Amino acid sequence: MIQIKNKAEIERMRAAGKLAADLLDYLTPHVKIGANTEELNTLAHEFTIRKGAIPAPLNYKGSFPKSICTSINDVVCHGIPKKADVLSDGDIINIDVTPILNGYHGDTSRMFMLGSVKAEHKKLIEDTYKAMWIGIEQVKPGNRVNDISNAIDDFLTPLGYGIVKDLMGHGVGKKFHEDPQIPHFRQNRLLAKLEPGMTFTVEPMVNLGTYKVNFSKSDKWTVRTVDGKWSAQWEHTVLVTDSGYEIMTTNGK
Ligand code: MF3
Ligand code: CO
Ligand code: CO
Repeated sequence: MIQIKNKAEIERMRAAGKLAADLLDYLTPHVKIGANTEELNTLAHEFTIRKGAIPAPLNYKGSFPKSICTSINDVVCHGIPKKADVLSDGDIINIDVTPILNGYHGDTSRMFMLGSVKAEHKKLIEDTYKAMWIGIEQVKPGNRVNDISNAIDDFLTPLGYGIVKDLMGHGVGKKFHEDPQIPHFRQNRLLAKLEPGMTFTVEPMVNLGTYKVNFSKSDKWTVRTVDGKWSAQWEHTVLVTDSGYEIMTTNGK
């Protein structure tokens, strides 16, 4: 069942989304060589609480232990912040935040580069960013979920990347993850029609090597590429409007 948000709900989604963008802006100057991801988590947690919001990741599914996800290099997503994860020269990191404000979620993530990053990793990040926007450009009433999926795949696959299949974009609102799923890879069947009032994420996870990932047996969360090659991701929460889309997770900066 895909939820259609009414005007009041959309207003709350905007506020939660703006807060999520503000949170990433707030963290940005702290994402530097020598910082550890536990520090970033603490800053994010305190900022979120100060703003009257709740960090959705914390205790999600009764088990995620921190307030943001920090995914470094070959970690695809769901990296758990920890003191031992110290950012070093050449690293790339995705920071994924989801504050809940007045009952509604804003889910967004960005990539950051530390010091001198290899050209192939910089290009991976840029191409993943383009892929997210190419997907978002397909968001309009009458188009279908698979139009998003196929546009992203048509851009990335010829460039030789592996597009992650085990994790997808998702409806978001009162719940962190709701219908529909938004695949970022080719769909040979018709998926749901997009209608005004739907809110969901577009969040391609893109690997330099194989699309295959594994889920950590020890911490149950960390997702890594199976070949150890590096991975990038960007994410926005979007609303389907009467004429196209509106980005929820922006503060206009
Ligand atoms: N923010 C992630 C997403 O984009 C989900 C993280 S779940 C968590 O869907 F428990 F790891 F936080
Ligand atoms: Co998401
Ligand atoms: Co997210």
